[in-house]
Amino acid sequence: MRNGTTLLLLAAIAVAGAAYLTLWDAGPVPAAPALTSVSDAPSAMVIFPVGEKPNPEGVGMKPVVFNHLVHENRVDDCESCHHTGETVACTTCHTVEGRSEGKFVTLDQAMHAPNIAKRVKGNTPQSCVSCHTEQLQRRECAGCHGIVKPTRSEAYCNACHNVAGLTKADMVAGIAGKLPAKRNAQLAADTLKARENPVQLQPTDGPYKVMIDGITDEYKANMFAHRRHVSSLMERLKDNSLASAFHSQPATLCSTCHHNSPLKSAPPKCGSCHSQRINPANPERPQLKAAYHLQCMGCHKGMNVARPLNTSCVTCHKDNEAKPVDGAAAKLGGK
Ligand code: HEC
Ligand code: HEC
Ligand code: HEC
Ligand code: HEC
Ligand code: HEC
Ligand code: HEC
Ligand code: HEC
Ligand code: HEC
Ligand code: HEC
Repeated sequence: MRNGTTLLLLAAIAVAGAAYLTLWDAGPVPAAPALTSVSDAPSAMVIFPVGEKPNPEGVGMKPVVFNHLVHENRVDDCESCHHTGETVACTTCHTVEGRSEGKFVTLDQAMHAPNIAKRVKGNTPQSCVSCHTEQLQRRECAGCHGIVKPTRSEAYCNACHNVAGLTKADMVAGIAGKLPAKRNAQLAADTLKARENPVQLQPTDGPYKVMIDGITDEYKANMFAHRRHVSSLMERLKDNSLASAFHSQPATLCSTCHHNSPLKSAPPKCGSCHSQRINPANPERPQLKAAYHLQCMGCHKGMNVARPLNTSCVTCHKDNEAKPVDGAAAKLGGK
């Protein structure tokens, strides 16, 4: 990557973030403009696990469909990805086993390596995963992604490793580098079509408001605007194709808060797993008050929500006197 390209990319993300600042409370985000291609690349293509000894039986992962058009329109610089400056297939140099042209960086590394160190000379390469992880720093993503622990489940791999209508003959030809371009384009187009509009649970699948009153010694119960939260969070994701490709299960978004339990519309209460005192058998698990505070405030901080401030106890604890006790905020995460 050229010197400063990372900065440019980050600046672009910051500008996108700033645009959000003004849109924050201004209703729906405008639809993205139609995309046009400036490269000679096909608008989408299937990338096959090309290797020295093509053996479709021995291949563990399905190929991946890559939407080139979306990427070249969202990423400023071709050389973020085509890091050697040649716009050729990555598999020219990065194969399943690795080869000398790619300094034995395998296909797996080239596609998934996290946190790639900046190169002193030449462009710093980006893998699919290293760049996507950077995207999660955007304001509209950071709140949830600050509190969600990635599970790297099968659904996560399948968001990329999945080709609609792939036959064994396609696979044999593909890994030998002999699949006709027309067939490749057809498979890619069918897959993108199948990815459109994944089924998602909606705000109305959860309650309108929830009274949170598991613990009420000093502070009054909390009326949580459940539906407003879910719809406000979904609104921020509407036009982001990366988010919709990866939030692929109907209850993915619900599982942000309703975590560590099966994905479904009727989740267990926080208090089912978080007891009022730390359980010595589970010292890592926050007690109930801390569980609420850490989750509510963790997301608000990541999303830079203007109201409520973490120190503004009375915004959440409505009927209490305004008494932001000295040092109370510091105690919040405590036992
Ligand atoms: C952001 C998209 C993306 C995600 C998510 C992803 N991969 Fe990949 N992976 C690729 C691409 C692109 C290739 C190169 C094409 C191919 O081999 O299918 C690849 C190649 C591979 C390879 C080398 C090829 C082979 O078959 O030996 C392995 C192994 C692999 N992925 C495993 C995984 C596993 C396991 C997961 C989930 C934990 C995963 N990938 C998630 C994009 C992704
Ligand atoms: C986000 C990463 C990314 C960006 C940005 C990007 N490309 Fe690509 N490009 C790829 C990947 C991945 C492939 C498929 C490689 C493969 O099949 O192994 C590809 C394939 C191509 C191909 C077809 C190569 C072949 O022989 O199969 C061309 C041509 C190309 N890109 C040109 C460009 C140009 C020009 C730009 C800038 C306007 C650009 N690309 C921006 C990732 C990117
Ligand atoms: C002409 C050969 C060539 C092509 C084509 C090529 N690479 Fe590379 N790649 C290399 C070499 C050589 C290295 C090792 C040098 C380095 O890391 O700077 C490397 C390193 C990488 C790394 C660093 C891995 C790590 O763990 O540090 C990533 C990621 C990567 N390539 C991704 C890609 C992607 C994605 C494409 C296609 C869009 C691609 N490369 C196309 C030659 C190539
Ligand atoms: C340099 C950054 C960058 C790299 C590298 C990158 N992506 Fe992306 N990816 C993005 C951005 C940005 C979006 C689009 C977000 C939006 O819609 O605004 C995206 C969107 C996607 C989507 C959803 C869009 C769709 O139509 O499928 C998938 C799937 C995806 N990327 C897979 C990949 C794979 C596979 C690779 C590696 C071959 C890759 N990405 C490499 C930045 C990147
Ligand atoms: C309402 C909360 C929420 C918001 C907002 C959100 N995500 Fe996610 N995202 C999740 C959850 C939950 C998962 C699944 C994590 C798991 O099970 O591994 C996830 C997974 C992902 C993944 C798979 C990689 C990973 O780390 O697990 C990507 C990529 C992703 N989201 C992109 C985005 C993007 C881009 C945005 C912002 C435009 C965004 N998300 C905003 C909740 C959210
Ligand atoms: C921003 C975090 C968050 C998200 C996202 C979220 N919930 Fe909740 N939900 C909560 C909290 C907090 C409670 C109260 C739990 C408690 O006190 O035990 C709750 C309670 C519930 C309840 C129980 C209501 C009752 O009266 O007992 C249901 C059902 C529910 N949520 C469904 C959903 C569904 C379906 C989704 C996805 C569409 C979802 N939730 C998304 C935070 C969230
Ligand atoms: C099915 C059991 C279960 C339910 C229900 C549950 N949690 Fe958790 N929670 C866990 C587990 C497991 C951990 C990880 C710590 C551990 O290993 O014990 C955890 C950890 C946490 C953490 C610490 C950060 C982290 O993610 O590790 C917070 C904050 C939290 N939970 C909040 C909540 C809130 C708020 C709710 C209700 C909306 C909730 N939890 C519902 C099981 C649960
Ligand atoms: C996953 C992210 C997330 C979590 C978790 C979360 N919030 Fe929020 N919260 C938001 C966002 C985003 C807004 C701004 C809402 C808007 O613009 O409508 C907000 C706004 C609020 C507001 C102000 C709304 C108003 O009426 O002005 C309150 C009060 C609030 N949250 C309480 C809570 C409580 C209590 C919890 C924990 C039980 C919680 N939130 C958990 C994202 C979150
Ligand atoms: C983002 C919303 C939010 C903010 C801000 C907030 N809390 Fe809470 N707090 C909650 C929720 C939700 C509960 C769980 C309520 C329940 O179960 O009754 C809770 C529970 C508590 C409890 C345990 C219940 C009790 O009566 O003993 C105490 C104490 C508490 N909060 C103190 C504070 C203090 C002090 C502040 C300000 C520094 C504060 N909270 C700010 C959401 C918030």
